[in-house]
Amino acid sequence: MEYKHVPVMLAEVLEYLRAEPGQNIIDCTMGGAGYTMAIAERINPGKVLAIDLDQLAIENAKKILAKNKIKNVIIVNDNFRNIKKIAEENMESAAENKFDGIVFDLGLSSAQLEDRTRGFSFKADAPLNMSFNQAGEISTEDIVNTWPEAELTRIIREYGEERFAHKIARKIIETRKTEEIKTTGQLIAIIKRSLPGFYLRKKGIHFATLTFQALRIATNEELVSLEEALANALKLLKKGGRIIVISYHSLEDRIVKQFFKKENIGCICPPRQPVCQCEHEASLKSVTRKVLIPTETEVEENPRARSAKMRVAEKL
Ligand SMILES: C[S@@+](CC[C@H](N)C(=O)[O-])C[C@H]1O[C@@H](n2cnc3c(N)ncnc32)[C@H](O)[C@@H]1O
Repeated sequence: MEYKHVPVMLAEVLEYLRAEPGQNIIDCTMGGAGYTMAIAERINPGKVLAIDLDQLAIENAKKILAKNKIKNVIIVNDNFRNIKKIAEENMESAAENKFDGIVFDLGLSSAQLEDRTRGFSFKADAPLNMSFNQAGEISTEDIVNTWPEAELTRIIREYGEERFAHKIARKIIETRKTEEIKTTGQLIAIIKRSLPGFYLRKKGIHFATLTFQALRIATNEELVSLEEALANALKLLKKGGRIIVISYHSLEDRIVKQFFKKENIGCICPPRQPVCQCEHEASLKSVTRKVLIPTETEVEENPRARSAKMRVAEKL
């Protein structure tokens, strides 16, 4: 069956990309092909290089593109952290400074979240695997069953910003002495046993949300992948080309903000150093003064958009 993902902030993405016929654009997170399709229509005969780590997303997107008779898309099943290699392998000539735009729409698609056989959601009991990639190198099950208490506490605290990280990590360690933790259901029961009553009853957010977010980030090495991808994406952009990132939690947004800020300035030597030794040059300018968020109407129609934050920068 074909699934549809309602793309978030699509109108803003198209506006800030300024996509025109003949351009080449990379969609680093193809998902349900919402952005890919809209961009491909606008830049034809230019090409969209569309990447996704999830084989199921790739198969689904292929069907959608074929049905809509869209032919100017090159599809690659890989991690966007390899963006430079992917671009080099798929361009006829050198890939550096060749792209007019690069877009990242981070995180999960609705299809991944709603797939009851995958372990992303705490709404269904599924095997404990939160990997985007079917052949992922790190498994969530391994993390939960083998990582030491200090490491578990660290990731739940850092990646989940969960105030009860230590209690949850300790309960995981205690439980795994007698049973192997193999399902999301088991994990939810453990998290529930670690938390005080007032926290379990907190409105607006399920008590397992932050721990699930932390484990997903660790399983997919999401933050490192983003840092690597941004640095490499910069090399692929043309002068005047734009990079757009839509993120859904503060850790990702902080990485994007700091990257844009660093690339916006020349010398990055420590302030006490009298003579510049870094030879760093500014290579990006921010296009929007503040972070962009979806309109109220969009959030009403698509609650998934509520935490979206979009940043746009242009290559100097
Ligand atoms: C929010 S969805 C993108 C939705 C898309 N913009 C659309 O219009 O349908 C995010 C997608 O990024 C993919 N993804 C996440 N991390 C990735 C990575 N490191 N490399 C490649 N794809 C990744 C996920 O598999 C998912 O399909």
